[in-house]
Amino acid sequence: MPRRTSMGRRKSRNPAAAAALLASLAFAAAPGPAAAGDCSPTPSNPQGPFYLPDAPFVTALDREGEPGERIELAGRVYNEPDCEPVSGAVLDIWQANAEGHYYNLEAAAAAADYLFRGRVRTDGEGRFRVRTVRPGPYRTGPSSWRPSHIHVKVSGPTLVPLTTQVYLPGDPHLERDPLAVPLLVGILSQRPDGPATLFFDFVLRTGSEKP
Ligand SMILES: [Fe+2]
Repeated sequence: MPRRTSMGRRKSRNPAAAAALLASLAFAAAPGPAAAGDCSPTPSNPQGPFYLPDAPFVTALDREGEPGERIELAGRVYNEPDCEPVSGAVLDIWQANAEGHYYNLEAAAAAADYLFRGRVRTDGEGRFRVRTVRPGPYRTGPSSWRPSHIHVKVSGPTLVPLTTQVYLPGDPHLERDPLAVPLLVGILSQRPDGPATLFFDFVLRTGSEKP
């Protein structure tokens, strides 16, 4: 899905990739990046200061009663250059809350509380999905802001690890943040019967080198 959800820039280089594309379309129910693309690797973005290792595997990053608009982050992980979905890839995800604050910045607290942090694993078709709330933008200076974004580390046994950030479309601060390149802006799909879904497909190079 590179621009980024599953169908935008990906070109179907072979029948398997075409099948993956169709599956992705069915899964996403939204025009995705996979359909459009060239399967080039997802750009990296800085890790930033708020990452904590060893987050638990979860189905939701938020908790009951946590304020904010519920959304889901979903998509697929593909390898490059084969452009095949990768099962068993791990996405290590962290984000600010709805007001733009990161929780649990001290290691002692993190051991007991990983609110808005968690890992998910792709299924046999390379898909992932996790519930959360829409993260708020946050100020980084007198007149500078980080637009709404979700941090993600993606890894897998045959993949070169990736650290990046996925941005939510429509944030007024997007255009003033040089990190928020268009290829890292997901596709937000509203649903009448549930939370909006932020779709994003990750493409990682095949290999074993360190990030
Ligand atoms: Fe951040």
